[in-house]
Amino acid sequence: MPPTGTPIPTDARALRDAANQHLFVGMNNAAQLAEEGGPGVPIEAKGIRFKDIDGKWYSDAISGMYFRNVGFGREEIARAVYDQLRTVNMHVYASAAPATIRLAAKLAELTPGSLSRTFFTQGGSESNESSIKMAQAYHVRRGDKGRHKVISRRGSYHGGTIGTQWLGGHPGFPRTDYQPVPAHSTVHIGQPNPYRCEYGGRDPEECATLCAKALETAILFEGADSVSAFIAEPVSQPLGGVVAGPGYWPRVREICDKYGVVLIFDEVITGFGRLGTWFGANFVGVTPDIMSFAKGVTSGYFPYGGSIATKEIADVFSGGPDKTFKHMFTYTGHPAGAAAGLANIEILERENVIENSRARGVQLKDRLTEMKEKHPIIGDVRGAGLIQGLELVKDRKTKEHFDPKVGVNSRLTAALKKRGVWLRVPAYILPFAPPLVITADEIEELANAADESLTEVEKGLGV
Ligand SMILES: Cc1ncc(COP(=O)(O)O)c(C=O)c1O
Repeated sequence: MPPTGTPIPTDARALRDAANQHLFVGMNNAAQLAEEGGPGVPIEAKGIRFKDIDGKWYSDAISGMYFRNVGFGREEIARAVYDQLRTVNMHVYASAAPATIRLAAKLAELTPGSLSRTFFTQGGSESNESSIKMAQAYHVRRGDKGRHKVISRRGSYHGGTIGTQWLGGHPGFPRTDYQPVPAHSTVHIGQPNPYRCEYGGRDPEECATLCAKALETAILFEGADSVSAFIAEPVSQPLGGVVAGPGYWPRVREICDKYGVVLIFDEVITGFGRLGTWFGANFVGVTPDIMSFAKGVTSGYFPYGGSIATKEIADVFSGGPDKTFKHMFTYTGHPAGAAAGLANIEILERENVIENSRARGVQLKDRLTEMKEKHPIIGDVRGAGLIQGLELVKDRKTKEHFDPKVGVNSRLTAALKKRGVWLRVPAYILPFAPPLVITADEIEELANAADESLTEVEKGLGV
């Protein structure tokens, strides 16, 4: 009989039995995890590494879930949260703590263009929900009541709530249990992925042109007066870091302006340095009307996020009771999260973390490109900064994927784990997104482990 009751925190076996009986682990199931020896149970951490309860150290190659920008073990962020909680743990209705106000002002300074007013949330899905509500309310307030549709791109991920789950389409997160698609809002177009251009583009530039054209076609087909917003990540993660070819983003900006469609950047992953620039907007050279952010704003030290709007959008919600943005969450602007955000940003600035992300990204790209020469199952290397990925294929010519039953992803996950790299490989993309503080030696270590793991898996597959 497994033990019952609350396990003591040092008993690995009892903790894993309790997890098996009592815990939902996101996008995993208990029986599957139990077969693999149970979920990871981290108990100690520093820099890019954590120690599992069994005593083995792993490097975190995916930044937890793309959030651990400044790495583990940052005393000063923990201290900032502690200090805030012991003074005012959460402000009262119609007020804002100094930390919350200071973070909003800091974000206005860091973000490009006139992005200047933030609605704070507890994470990425809430940020996208807030951005979408803000876009629709903006149109309504200006007398454009019919604009409620949101255009997004297949292959993107924008969240797990009832509202956001229908945007994009993550290959590893099928929505088969949640049908039917709500009739109200979502329109999908293709992702500017030059390796598999949906519209037949033969090079990145042609793919970019055709994908931007697809946005205009969708707006015209739906009727511009029914479209509220276009939401997209400057570089999209689910397919391993899709970087659009030249011209895509300026053209998207032009199209949105031409038809009065609000451009929302989902910077939940790309914000705060992951692309080697402060924001994806800086990376692509285009400023959105609203930017959603989360994850890297606190590097995971507090669940936090937000939607920052340009002055033009924000001003519509200011001036009298009828102007209020009618939207809230109980914990909007939680001061402990704001304190974590301020301390996190201070580290990003002081330690030149953004520059490190850029340099380590170049180093990683070189190593992955070299690996492609050697490993026939690598179909494509893509990404920028410290969001990169390999697309795994059975046949480079036809670009056919392996049958999921072959379990190329679980084989790779196991091979990497054996080598001390923590990374769950979803479907056919091997993603890399280590903390932005990773050193040059640690990049070499990670690349060597990936190289050896690919060799082991290819051998097992008889490739
Ligand atoms: C680009 C993007 N947007 C939104 C989300 C949803 O964020 P959260 O899981 O914090 O709700 C994610 C989560 O991975 C994401 O990657």
